[in-house]
Amino acid sequence: MIKKCLFPAAGYGTRFLPATKSMPKEMLPVVNKPLIQYGVEEAIEAGLSNMAIVTGRGKRAMEDHFDVSYELEHQIHGTDKESYLQEIRSIMDNSTFSYTRQIEMKGLGHAILTGETLIGDEPFAVLLADDLCLMDNDDGVLKQMVGLYKQFRCSIVAVEEVPMNEVHKYGVIQGDLIKDDIYQVKTMVEKPATKDAPSNLAIIGRYILTPDIFDILRNTTPGVGGEIQITDALMQQARDGCVLAYKFKGKRFDCGSIEGFIDATNYCYKTFYASANSSKSR
Ligand code: UTP
Repeated sequence: MIKKCLFPAAGYGTRFLPATKSMPKEMLPVVNKPLIQYGVEEAIEAGLSNMAIVTGRGKRAMEDHFDVSYELEHQIHGTDKESYLQEIRSIMDNSTFSYTRQIEMKGLGHAILTGETLIGDEPFAVLLADDLCLMDNDDGVLKQMVGLYKQFRCSIVAVEEVPMNEVHKYGVIQGDLIKDDIYQVKTMVEKPATKDAPSNLAIIGRYILTPDIFDILRNTTPGVGGEIQITDALMQQARDGCVLAYKFKGKRFDCGSIEGFIDATNYCYKTFYASANSSKSR
């Protein structure tokens, strides 16, 4: 079944400059945890144990984050501060990490193709860590999608209804509703103008892909913005066979934008951090 999760994380993160000049966007902390760690936790919850990260220049901090820090760990060994590292240690005990570099930033489709060397010939998940998806108590978005893959065995994209005046930021689908919240994709348009959008169902940063996507991507010419677009490759898969769009359950924050990042920070502080700490101090 699906064991690997690909994290395209090579983008420049220009919307967060100057913070992202020498620090990867994926290492920006929402409260006290970097975005990429939320993503890895979601993947582990979905039963995936092999994290494949596509990095770029200046992104070494991610590799160090998922490694031991001998000096720091020695320093806090035996103190109550050790508990702060419990979560990240458990991640490292329960998963493996492999990395490859995207040399030129030619778009998300190109980043996914760069990850082929880490994935091989098997279905896999793709998680964009700057889309932070949170659940209260239910299954995470990737877990919901892995469950669907077991049933349908084809590529699946997660979609969310967005206001029509925001469709230009996303890939947008149109499809036939085949079951509650599940569409068979008929059309997919990357960053359409409002008047050209086939619906308001926007693709967010969670995908399950079958490995034939790599051959399709190899033959995909640059599309919108001169970048190799995953939506163009998925549209080819939809024409040749089947691609599903799944209206997931949960809350998503676009942490690639300043507003979404601040919303996520406020939400996580109130929901997880403040309540946990007030119960500790009681
Ligand atoms: P974005 O469109 O958010 O681009 O990429 P970006 O460079 O990260 O951020 P801005 O727009 O300049 O602020 C969506 C996801 O695809 C990855 C990014 O790292 C992000 O997770 N990506 C994008 C790559 O890995 N490589 C690329 O060439 C483009």
